[in-house]
Parts: sequence; structure tokens; C-alpha cells
Amino acid sequence: VFAQSAKATIGNDNGMVISRHIYGQFAEHLGRGIYDGFWVDAKMPVKKQDRVRLDIVDALKKIKIPNLRWPGGCFADEYHWRDGIGVRTGRPKMVNTNWGGVTEDNSFGTHEFLELCKLLNTEPYITGNVGSGTVQEMSNWVEYLNFDGKSPLSDLRAKNGHPKPYNVTFWGVGNESWGCGGNMTPEHYADEYKRYAIFAKDYGNNKLKKIATGPAGDNYNWTEVVMKNVKKDIWGIALHYYTLPTGDWNDKGPATGFTEAAYFNTLKNGLRMEEFVTKHSAIMDKYDPDKKVALVVDEWGVWTNSEPGTNPGFLYQQNSLRDALVAATTLNIFNNHADRVKLANLAQTINVLQALILTQKEKIILTPTYHVFDMFKVHQDAKLLPIKLDVPDYEFDGKKLPAVNVSASKDAAGKIHLTIVNIDNNKAIDFKADLGNATWSTVSGQILTGTDVTNINTFTNPNNIKLVAFNDAKKDGNNISVKLPAHSIVSLELK
Ligand code: AHR
Repeated sequence: VFAQSAKATIGNDNGMVISRHIYGQFAEHLGRGIYDGFWVDAKMPVKKQDRVRLDIVDALKKIKIPNLRWPGGCFADEYHWRDGIGVRTGRPKMVNTNWGGVTEDNSFGTHEFLELCKLLNTEPYITGNVGSGTVQEMSNWVEYLNFDGKSPLSDLRAKNGHPKPYNVTFWGVGNESWGCGGNMTPEHYADEYKRYAIFAKDYGNNKLKKIATGPAGDNYNWTEVVMKNVKKDIWGIALHYYTLPTGDWNDKGPATGFTEAAYFNTLKNGLRMEEFVTKHSAIMDKYDPDKKVALVVDEWGVWTNSEPGTNPGFLYQQNSLRDALVAATTLNIFNNHADRVKLANLAQTINVLQALILTQKEKIILTPTYHVFDMFKVHQDAKLLPIKLDVPDYEFDGKKLPAVNVSASKDAAGKIHLTIVNIDNNKAIDFKADLGNATWSTVSGQILTGTDVTNINTFTNPNNIKLVAFNDAKKDGNNISVKLPAHSIVSLELK
């Protein structure tokens, strides 16, 4: 029943571009993200290059991931990069104290990560160790990676198989320095940032894009203090926000088999990203009115209880249509804040938190969230089209949320793309968008939906949730009329 209707007015592009880096991913040394994820046992009977799984590489190439953040997360502030270079059998081992207390054998290190990035055709985003490392250690790592002349460190890089500099640009100066990255106050961190950043040098024509540790959620004071005290040599400031179904870190709620009340609450918590991005941006505007410093949401996603029977330190969780709806809503928020949000990283790519891909021995499944990134890739580096929205509410138990969210862009070939999300669990919605004076004559589309928001893909039913063609969008003058089913994500191409 199309009892509800929603209206949008889509404006002309004003030159603002949606950075492709909003579609970035994150791979930490955590659980089965790297080991038994990207990087498998040499004897595993799957196609590999070195020990990198190529079925995963192919799947990620299809959705054009623009950057990959590594090695953490909390792990970054206890990682010592020299342990991860040279002959693998000679590399020292360490304890991964943050994630399950397992032994890290350092077989996946700097060169392995950068070779993976090459295979994926993606840019590396490396986070250096501020919490338990030294200024010299970070400075040396940058020199090892990027120096294009002759020095003991560039000689060592050549000896380890890579004479040419890697030219890494995205550089995180610590991670969550208010917590696992060092328990610092923002004042203390701002001073540390300046000291670490000045010794992380630019080599040749390669300019580092340095990213400061930022706040979690609503810690506005952190943004205020760092923006006030760090006046130069900063490309971005990070924001971390996880959507917990219950909002309670001690019992986050299950990834599967949840109630509509839990669904509503998850979407409500997910929508808070709009508030956080808006308010942190407003603080940044005070110190940086020309918007030169990026807001980098380098950890986001749904965080549920771990799957029963798995190591709780490995953060392995299933992924449902609900999570896809949160992802699509979040990406619409980032697109619409393209003036400030220039980079973001879903946490985390394989087998950890809101993953794109889950693996079980030789098998892989693409999660509903993977398909969202497939639908949204058309926005990468396209021009944002501003939108005015008038939408009905999704009502549950006397509470309300805006039922529909949208973003729109125009690509280099002049094609217009809309990604439209109906979060209402029960009601289909008639959606109409006025395209003003844009010229187009045909519309085609895809949809991601299911019989229930709890639907998941499993190793025995891997295509339960998948993209299918969508034929319920019609041209009506210069309007587009769309029949949005309940709990659905629709992408349209107008040309
Ligand atoms: O993504 C999992 C963890 O969440 C990261 O290591 C940390 O930065 C955050 O608290």
C-alpha cells in the first residue's frame, strides 16, 4: 500500500565534488580480518598471489574501493613497523593485546600491505604509532616508504624488494589517542600531533596528507581543542562513530534474529551520524572557514555482539539487510556533506564488524553491505546535486524517524545518479523528485531489499540478499516517480 508519499527537489551542481575516498575501507590486524581473511595459509586451495586471496581481491575491485586503512585501529598504536619487514621467517612475533591476546607473527607487514593495495588498485592509508612508538620510529617509517634518494632506509627498502618509493600519502598520526592510543587529553594530543607531524616528512613531490586523531561521537571538546591548537600541517581530523543496536557497549544486541524495536533503535542510532558530522563541521568552520581541513570518518559501521561460539576478541558478526540500510543511509549523509567529509572508512572489510565479505575456509559470501557499496560507487568523484526533502515519518511504538533519505550526483559523462533509502519497515512509499532543468530521457535502476530486515546471506544461501533490476521508476515531465518498497535501497541512473 502506497499510503505515504515523499517529495524531493534536486538542484543543479555547484561544483562540489563527492570525494571517492568517502568509500574507503579498513583492515586492522584483528580477528580474521587480515589473517585467514585477506592473507591465508600458503596451502589453502584458493587462487592466491603470494598469500593474498584473489577471489576477495576480485570482489573488492568490482566495487572500486578507493583507499584501505591499515594496520589499525588500536593495533596501530602497538605496532612496530620494523617487525614486519625482511625475511618472513626471521620476523619477531608479538602479542596482539587488544584483539584476543593472540600471537601476531608479522608475516603481513609493510610490503605485503602495499602489494595488496596494488592488487586492489587502491590507495594506502597508513596509521603510525603515537601511543607506544617514538617520533623517530614514525619518521623512519615515512622515509623508508617514500624517500626517492639514497639513504640507509631507502637501501633497506630496496634490499627488501622495492627500490622505488611507495609514495604513500594518507598518513594517520595515531588512533583514538583519547583511549587505546594513549589515554591523552586533547591538549596533550595536540602537542604530540605537532611533534610527530613535523618529523613525518614530504619526500620528492610526494606530499603527506596527515590526519589527526579525532573524537568519538559527540566529544565536541576534542575537535575544538585540536582545531584550535593545530593550525597547520594537518590534512584532516578523524571522527569515529559506531552504531550499536542497543546503544550499550556491554550488550550491543545480536546481529541476527532481532525485533522491530531493535531495528528501529539501530536506525535511530545510525542516523545520529548526521548530527555528529553537522556539529563537528560547525566547530571546524570556526577555525577553518575555507574548509581546507577534511573531516575523516575513518571508523564507522554497525557493531553488534559477536556471533555465538566465536572468539569475542575477534569481533566477527553477521550482516543483515538492516546493516545495509544503515550503510546506505550513512553514505547518503557523507555525500550530502561532501564539503567537509573527504574520506571515510567502513569498519572493517573482511570478517570483522560490518564486513563487506565473510569467509569460511575456501568459501566467501558478499554481505548486504557489500551490495550497498556496489550501488553507491557511481557517486565517486561525481558532482553533488543538492537536495531538498519533504518526507513522511517511519513510526514505531510512538516514536518517529524520517523514513526516506537520498543523495544525488552527476558524473563526468553527465549521467545523474540517485540513491534512495526507505527505512520504514512496513510501508512502501511513493517518492517523487523534481529534476528542475536537468536533461535526461531514460531511467534504469537496481534495488536491494528482502522479505525482512533480518535477512542475511549465509554460506549455504549466499545470494539471499542481492541486487536486482528495478523497474518501478517512471519519467513524468521532468519529475521521476518511484515506488519504494518497505525497507529498501534503490539506485537510479538517469541519462
Ligand atoms: O574497529 C575496531 C576498533 O574500534 C578499532 O581498533 C578502534 O580504533 C575502535 O575503538
